[in-house]
Amino acid sequence: MLVIAVALLALGAGANPETVTLKYLEGKRAPVVLPHQAHVVDYKGPGGATIACRDCHHTLTADDAEVKPCVSCHALPNQPMATHGGVEPPRYAVEKKPGVFDIKTLVAHTQCFEGCHKQLPARQAKALKKCAACHPK
Ligand code: HEC
Ligand code: HEC
Ligand code: HEC
Repeated sequence: MLVIAVALLALGAGANPETVTLKYLEGKRAPVVLPHQAHVVDYKGPGGATIACRDCHHTLTADDAEVKPCVSCHALPNQPMATHGGVEPPRYAVEKKPGVFDIKTLVAHTQCFEGCHKQLPARQAKALKKCAACHPK
């Protein structure tokens, strides 16, 4: 893990951006601004451990020269499915009708909300389990 982090950080400024903004879906919600660097440097995961690049960039290997966007594998609703390692990764989201997404299918929710924020100890992070933690509106 450390090896991967060091290799990527060696790519130079921007290798661990301070924030990244997620707005792939044309829905009603405002863009989600992820405090990217703080997740690596300051925050701890549900088990209390430091969060690694690969906890989120879950396909990253030491051989990768760059970090791929989630949607390079998790196809957007209107895009053809991609394949990776012989499997078709689930879509980034399934659209029920234009601008309305099946909330159970959002891979960002599976990873960020269900997989991490909801697993945090209540005393540590009650506010982080609310929609507003990530969606200002
Ligand atoms: C841990 C962060 C996080 C939390 C908490 C969270 N979301 Fe999200 N949500 C996201 C991310 C990231 C996206 C993907 C945004 C994109 O790429 O467009 C998203 C997308 C969505 C979308 C689809 C996009 C749109 O504009 O319609 C809906 C609907 C949504 N969230 C609703 C909710 C609701 C309701 C809650 C609370 C029950 C919630 N979210 C809690 C991070 C979060
Ligand atoms: C908490 C989850 C999380 C962690 C931990 C994390 N990242 Fe990211 N990172 C993201 C998300 C989400 C994106 C946006 C992906 C997208 O646009 O599809 C991103 C984007 C990036 C980008 C592209 C930035 C851009 O502006 O295009 C780089 C480079 C990157 N991360 C490197 C790293 C490195 C190096 C580490 C470890 C030191 C790391 N990330 C740890 C979630 C994370
Ligand atoms: C290089 C391709 C690739 C990239 C980039 C990628 N994924 Fe994935 N992802 C996959 C594959 C393949 C699977 C299916 C794995 C399996 O079922 O064994 C998967 C599965 C998942 C799942 C589990 C979905 C489910 O319903 O079980 C989540 C959540 C997820 N990815 C989130 C993300 C997020 C968030 C990002 C961006 C930070 C991301 N992925 C980037 C290839 C990728």
